[in-house]
Parts: sequence; structure tokens; C-alpha cells
Amino acid sequence: MAGISNSEFLNKVIPYGFDVATLGGYSLDVPTIEASKRIVERGRKEFDFPLDEIFSHIENEVASIKEVHKDVKVSANVRATTPQPIIEAGKIKYLDIVEINCHCRQEEIIAIGCGQELLKRQDLENFISQVVDNVDCEVSVKIRANIEGLDTLEIAKQIESAGADYLHVDAMKKGVFDADYDLVKEICDNTEIRVIGNNSMNCEDNIKKMIEAGVYGFSMARSVISGNLDFNISQF
Ligand SMILES: Cc1cc2nc3c(=O)[nH]c(=O)nc-3n(C[C@H](O)[C@H](O)[C@H](O)COP(=O)(O)O)c2cc1C
Repeated sequence: MAGISNSEFLNKVIPYGFDVATLGGYSLDVPTIEASKRIVERGRKEFDFPLDEIFSHIENEVASIKEVHKDVKVSANVRATTPQPIIEAGKIKYLDIVEINCHCRQEEIIAIGCGQELLKRQDLENFISQVVDNVDCEVSVKIRANIEGLDTLEIAKQIESAGADYLHVDAMKKGVFDADYDLVKEICDNTEIRVIGNNSMNCEDNIKKMIEAGVYGFSMARSVISGNLDFNISQF
């Protein structure tokens, strides 16, 4: 979560039972860094690092988590307009997963064709496969489901063919304050990729529904920030 998920925050919440901790999102090239600055200017939290510091910053953050939680996989959620900076991030020492952010919908990020706009690119599969083919770590692609005019299952298939290791789906659906479990099931039934189900995993019933949909894992954002996790996630 931009401006929130740093090593200090993650080291505090990992003991709830998480086996993957995601740093970021981070902006990795000039267009995304400038967009981040504009987001900060209008008062929203963002990680705002210059280009000559961002990669060493992430490396230090990964080390700060691994020092305390050796067995947790560390992922970095990153935004860039081309694959190259993401490939560079994927080579960061001890980073287990580089996560391509095809999810952000902040207007400054959309305006430069990044975040969820990446899902509209004709060369999406090629963009992702360039990252997959040039990094040693695992690759996750974080998407937003049910974007108007896009077929989420079709996108999931492209991400699978590109060779990504994980499809991290924010299964949001307009007007519904819960995950779109039917869509998640459709993706799980029609692909072999490891699906991480996200959105509203804030109680045991919702997590059970997500698991029944066939996911490999689930992720949480707002319920972790709120500090109100009143159940044991290790049981799932
Ligand atoms: C303050 C905030 C910042 C976020 N920043 C990011 C981000 O940088 N990258 C990303 O992929 N998702 C980001 N998200 C989305 C969450 O990771 C998650 O997909 C979404 O909130 C739905 O899951 P939840 O119901 O568990 O919160 C952010 C969410 C919030 C509330």
C-alpha cells in the first residue's frame, strides 16, 4: 500500500501469520515518479523517492524484513511505464517476488498509461514476458478486476501465457462491498496460474469463500491497516 507498506509496518504485521509481505507500491521511472509527486501534492500518501535512490532503498527495505523474518517471502509492488525498471527491481538482492502494478487507478498514474491502464495495452503479454524472462525472482501481476470494457478472464489468460508466477486479483466489483467470488472462481477454473484473491478479506467467512473459489492464497490491505484483525489467519 503506497505510503504505508514499508519494512517498519510490515515487520509489525507479519506476526499475524503472513507468509508473504509486500513492500510498496514504488514508482521506478521518471514518468511514474513525477506522477507520484503530483499525488503527494494533492495530499495522498505515496512513497516518493528519486530515481537515483529508489533501487537501493528497496534493497535496504528487503534486508530490514529478512533480518527479522527470515522465512517470509518479500515482494515489491512496482509501477513503471516500460519493463526495464521492473526488470532492474527484479534483480534486487533477496527480493523473492517483483509485483507488476496493473492495479493503481490514481488519475496521475492513469494519465501516463500506467497502473490499471497497462491492462489495456495490446502488448500486455509481451510487457510481462519481458520481465519474466529477465529476472531471477518470481513475478506477480496485480490486477483490478471488472474494469469497464475489459474481459478480466481474458487478461488472466494473457498473464498466464506470459509466464507470470502469480496473478494477484483485486476482485472488486462496482457497487458491491465484497469480492467478486464468481469471477475469481471463473479465473481459477480456466487457468493454471496461482491466483491470490484480494478484496474484503476482513472476516473468516469471506476468506472461506475466497478459498472455495479455488485460490492459491489471499491477501489483505485495509483490514491490516485498521489494526482490527481479530481472527487468526494462520488457520487458513
Ligand atoms: C491506502 C491504500 C494504498 C494502496 N496502495 C496500493 C499500491 O501501492 N499498490 C497496489 O497494488 N495496491 C494498493 N492498494 C490496494 C490494496 O492493496 C488492495 O488491493 C485493496 O485495498 C483491496 O483489498 P482490501 O479489501 O484488503 O483492502 C492500496 C490500498 C489502500 C487502501
